[in-house]
Amino acid sequence: MKQFLILCVCVALSQCIRVPLIKGKTARQRLQEKGLWEEYRKENPYVPWIKFVQTGQESMTNDADLCYYGVISIGTPPQSFNILMDTGSSNLWVPSVYCSSQSCQGHNMFNPQQSSTFQSTNESISVQYGTGSMTGYMGYDTVTVGGIAVQNQIFGLSETEAPFMGTMTWDGIMGLAYQAISSDSATPVFDNMMSQNLVAEDVFSVYLSSNEQQGSMLLLGEIDPSYYTGSIYWIPLSSESYYQVTMDSITINGQVVACNGGCQAIVDTGTSFIIGPSSDVSNLNAYLGAQTDQYGDSVVSCNSIQSMPSVTFTLNGYAFSLPPSSFVSQGNSGCMTGFSGGDFGSSFSWILGDVFIRNWYTIFNRANNTVGLASLS
Ligand SMILES: *[C@@H]1O[C@H](CO)[C@@H](O)[C@H](O)[C@H]1NC(C)=O
Ligand SMILES: *[C@@H]1O[C@H](CO)[C@@H](O)[C@H](O)[C@H]1NC(C)=O
Repeated sequence: MKQFLILCVCVALSQCIRVPLIKGKTARQRLQEKGLWEEYRKENPYVPWIKFVQTGQESMTNDADLCYYGVISIGTPPQSFNILMDTGSSNLWVPSVYCSSQSCQGHNMFNPQQSSTFQSTNESISVQYGTGSMTGYMGYDTVTVGGIAVQNQIFGLSETEAPFMGTMTWDGIMGLAYQAISSDSATPVFDNMMSQNLVAEDVFSVYLSSNEQQGSMLLLGEIDPSYYTGSIYWIPLSSESYYQVTMDSITINGQVVACNGGCQAIVDTGTSFIIGPSSDVSNLNAYLGAQTDQYGDSVVSCNSIQSMPSVTFTLNGYAFSLPPSSFVSQGNSGCMTGFSGGDFGSSFSWILGDVFIRNWYTIFNRANNTVGLASLS
């Protein structure tokens, strides 16, 4: 009955905006298949905090394990792009036909001359990768997300892109975090959706499927009860920039192994792993029998998954436990945990990425600045 009512509301107001997320191959998998992974990793070490360095420029990542992306279109008539939906940044950008880099080839590229609604600006945009950068300029156009058109959306058109972007499945990024951290103070897509009254509620939610290629979903403007069971646990944001929350502790079998005395964490769909301070992550991995290899991966014996303990994250007094089956991944070259070390000079020290988010239906509530987590149905 409840679901029926919600469906009715959405149909009546045309405010169900759903973007199916495709679970594609990661850059790591693609490079491993070609035997190029180790060389690539040597040249492009993973530096998780590069994405969050506040230089006044847009943030970016060289995360080789991202796999979820959705399709949006820009312009009139629409030009389609595969997009990383990123709650850890706030800008929208796509490759453009003016991109002179090899890494843009093989990606969809926006041609502003083929859009009757495009308006150019003279504002430039620059994205730091750590191993290179993306540069370009800003324009305005109609951006269509889940069938709903957002008018006059500002976005970046790339003119150069670092080589590693060529290995990514997705073309560009749509940032879903707050305008406060947006490069050039560009209005994020979801902020325009709220101000243009395109969403029924000022919330969006994410379901990331672990196994299926299909089924993952970004729901803009709604919380769908069919995705979860039991209560939603609401966690107030400690900062409205990223989706930043206070974490009480990380425990194994009731023993604190990391985040002793509390720490700050962000919930970030645009980071694949769970990242924390190196010393904390070493300690956590030691409890799990994992060791950091020369490429920074936390390698563990695949045989030990059965006997490995769960890891519990306590947020706002609620305990969220991750079973080993959800944080150990099995690749061509063995098993590794989804816990990776990196020391930030930032207001937060932990990133709860897809390895965490996959375990819960995750709601980003802009109406009261909370994040909600609920058990998957
Ligand atoms: C961009 O700069 C050029 C040259 O300085 C100027 O003629 C043009 O009007 C500017 N366009 C916008 C949209 O500001
Ligand atoms: C935030 O909104 C949700 C959904 O309406 C509500 O259940 C929750 O109690 C609210 N939390 C706070 C702290 O206001």
